[in-house]
Amino acid sequence: MMKPVASEARPEPQSGDPAALLTGHAEFRAELSAIDGMYAEMFDRFAGLIAGAVGLADLEERKAESIGRERGHVTQALGQVAGLPIEQKKVAGRALNLIKRRLEELERAKRLELESAAAPKDALDVTLPGRRPWIGRPHVLAQVRDELLDLFHGLGYSTYESREVERDEYNFTKLNFAPDHPARDAHDTYFVAPDVVLRTHTSPGWVHAMEERKPPLQLVFPGRVYRAEQVDASHMDQFHQIDGLFVDRDVSMADLKATLNTFARSIYGPKTRTRLIPIYFPFVEPGCQMDVACAICDGSGRVRGGAEDQRCPVCKGSGWSELLGAGMIHPNVFRAVGYDPEEWTGFAFGMGIERIAMARYGIAEIRLFLENDVRFLRQF
Ligand code: PHE
Repeated sequence: MMKPVASEARPEPQSGDPAALLTGHAEFRAELSAIDGMYAEMFDRFAGLIAGAVGLADLEERKAESIGRERGHVTQALGQVAGLPIEQKKVAGRALNLIKRRLEELERAKRLELESAAAPKDALDVTLPGRRPWIGRPHVLAQVRDELLDLFHGLGYSTYESREVERDEYNFTKLNFAPDHPARDAHDTYFVAPDVVLRTHTSPGWVHAMEERKPPLQLVFPGRVYRAEQVDASHMDQFHQIDGLFVDRDVSMADLKATLNTFARSIYGPKTRTRLIPIYFPFVEPGCQMDVACAICDGSGRVRGGAEDQRCPVCKGSGWSELLGAGMIHPNVFRAVGYDPEEWTGFAFGMGIERIAMARYGIAEIRLFLENDVRFLRQF
């Protein structure tokens, strides 16, 4: 039985213009012609075939016929190169590889053209980068506070939070401040009422905790404190502290020193040098201040500036920077909360969170913490 002629004869596939798809078409053909005109003809045939594809499926078919791995004409020709004499092998191998690579590029270009023509005009471009949603984060002081609390939790301390508005009795009297101590003056402390103040430190928390609980105690007291300061780059009239309190039998200054060194080295690095110097606070005896070797000049007090040494601007030449106040809890404080100072001993320490954050991040201006300018806050 005869098949109808119409279905037997394959119509010649439509040819397209490869020069419109990729730049450098003429140069490429000239390069091929210089090798051998027959390669230019071969290229023209398959380049026209690929450029003339009328849809993605058609392009797939034309690709298979020219550079497809199984039945591509160029691929098959390349397969025969191995059997040619050495001189022809070089020439044919180079020419066919050039053709194959160029046809691959043409095929990609044609595919992009067909794909963008097929996409509806209002289509979503899913490859566009999305808009990042605005994500908040804890304030830099909250981050430093949480890091310090984590550290103390690791050393066995629990957190105790207490009020920001205190009776004079808790902020001062029970902490062994003398009636005429200068901190009790309105120049230094904000009074809410004759006997009520905005707390000037987190230490009144110890009094509350000790009145409520029996020893032994191991607590940290984070929070905001207020002082009637003249505001400048390193002083604010509100800032944050963390106090620590350790009460047990036979607690010594050596325990305090070991705790503070562990703390200093975990925030400033394991080789950090520290020193304790005596200083007066009414609620501890003896009282001390812990300094760390200045991170900028490494304790020397001098930095290189130009040809000569200069005084370190951060520690002002002392080689040390003040980290915290501490000491052994004064017997009068134990008496004020009803603990027997013959039976119980303890140490306490208190540090400013702003100061630690400023040293860590090189922040020179304390007011930035409260301004809530996102350009500052989002750096941390
Ligand atoms: N409360 C003291 C202050 O604010 C710091 C401190 C705490 C000192 C504990 C000694 C012991 O300055």
